This record gives sequence, C-alpha cells and structure tokens, in this order.
Amino acid sequence: MYTSDPIIMPKDAPVDLPANVFAETVTSVTHYTDTLFAFRITRPASFRFRSGEFVMIGLMIDGKPLFRAYSIASPSWDEEIEFYSIKVPDGPLTSHLQNIEVGDQVLMRKKPTGTLVNDALIGGKRLYMLSTGTGFAPFASLIREPETYEKFDEVILTHTCRDVAELKYGIDLVEAVKQDELVGEEASKQLTLVTATTREEYPTMGRITTRIEDGSLFDGLGVPRLNPEEDRVMICGSMDMLKDCKALCESHGLTEGANNNPAEFVVERAFVD
Ligand code: A2P
Repeated sequence: MYTSDPIIMPKDAPVDLPANVFAETVTSVTHYTDTLFAFRITRPASFRFRSGEFVMIGLMIDGKPLFRAYSIASPSWDEEIEFYSIKVPDGPLTSHLQNIEVGDQVLMRKKPTGTLVNDALIGGKRLYMLSTGTGFAPFASLIREPETYEKFDEVILTHTCRDVAELKYGIDLVEAVKQDELVGEEASKQLTLVTATTREEYPTMGRITTRIEDGSLFDGLGVPRLNPEEDRVMICGSMDMLKDCKALCESHGLTEGANNNPAEFVVERAFVD
C-alpha cells in the first residue's frame, strides 16, 4: 500500500504570484460611508505611473486572484499608493476588499495605464475635472500633481453625488491639498471644488450635465460657457455619465484627446463590480 504524508502549507505561506503582479501591504483604511472607503498600500520601488492613471488591483479569492481596474488616487510622487472604492454587498471583489485591514496584502498588476493624464490634453486656461461618485479618484491624484497647476491657470473640480455624506472624501482632500507643502500655494490660488448632490438636500443640487446645459455651473463660477479656446475637460464617472458629458463636450466644440494625440477633453471610467 502506498501512503504519503499530507503536504501541510503554513497558513501564511507565500502564494506563487505571476511575474506581473506585486503583493503589497495595506497601511491604512478609512471608511467614509456604508458604501465608500479609501485605503493605502505600500509602493514597490519599481512601480512608476503618471498621476491620473489606473491599475488592476485584486485579492486572492477561493485560491484565485480576482482583479478590477482602480484609478490611483495618490499622486505620482507619493511613497504609498491610495485607492478610493465603493462597497458592493455582493460585488465579486469589493465585498471582500471592504474588509481589508492594516497589514493585509493586496495584489497589484505592474502596468498602469489610462487617458486621464495631463499628457492627453493640450494646455489651456481652465481645466474642468468632472466627477461623480468614486470617479473622483483620478482627480484626487491630479490635484496633488504640480504639473496640473503649471499647465492650467484654473482647475475646477466638480464632484456630484446622490447624498451629502458621499462628498466628504473630496472635501477633506481638497482642504488638505490647499495646506500641502508641495502644491498648497498653487492649489489655494488655482483650484476650486464644486460639490453638488442630486438626491439629498444640499445648497447646490443637480446633475453636472444639467448644470452645464442650463449654464448654472458657469454662472456660479463667474466664467464663460464651455469653449474650445479656453477650456479643457477630464471626465470620470459611470458609463452613462461619461457618455452624456462626452456628448456635451462635443456639442460645445471640444475634440477628444488621447496619449498619442492630445486635444481638448478626455474620458475614462473608473468603477468596479
Ligand atoms: P442621479 O441621482 O440623478 O441619478 P451613480 O451612483 O448612479 O453612479 O450616481 C452618482 C451621481 O451621478 C448621482 O448624483 C447621479 O445622479 C449622477 N448621474 C447618474 N447618471 C448620470 C448621467 N448620465 N449624467 C450625469 N450625472 C449622472
């Protein structure tokens, strides 16, 4: 009779990772609402990205790696990597990701990519960053990037959510950015955050598309209507929001840009599950 000893793996035995994946350690987790949280992980020395890009991150689930695209919310110079995420109760990744704690490991593919980068736009007077929900994340990176303030005189970051509590991450971050050693002086002069809700009562209400169409966004800021001579736009939100904002940019005469062909607006989606 043939017998063999069972192979006993220590509980924390390192998993054999593919060569294109880093395993990084969670350094902080902040829960904002029942459906939103931010977390930071260690940054591998060899990992380079441009502010505004996204990367695939994941966890080992039932012995297999599961990845989703996430915008990097921290700037390219930061020594850690930050992400801002929704929590979907039955979401394949976020139902697990929402339970991570300091010291846990998160997987990250080695190759970042994306079009919401300064390189994909030509310079201009005003840069509009239009975001809904967790679409705020790439702008959390770009407003901490010095190049953003060199390339544009004014940076107008709009964040529209259903409810007031969902605006907190962005409001706190912009406040911190204005005190930041590296970009605080520029951000204090050049950056304006425009928050709005669509469902819960708030001083400014209405979808960003409505507020562009009826002109209330521009009237509130005291600036001219969207125009290709002065304005550049970056868009990040749900699929429908991207489609509608893109159509509005085009109807105002702006042309879509790309990394190899910079122009007047760029679109990306950063949502999971
Ligand atoms: P609304 O409450 O009117 O649907 P979601 O969580 O569904 O992605 O929504 C986040 C925010 O984006 C909400 O304020 C929502 O408004 C808004 N929104 C949803 N669809 C669009 C769209 N097509 N254009 C502009 N804003 C949108």
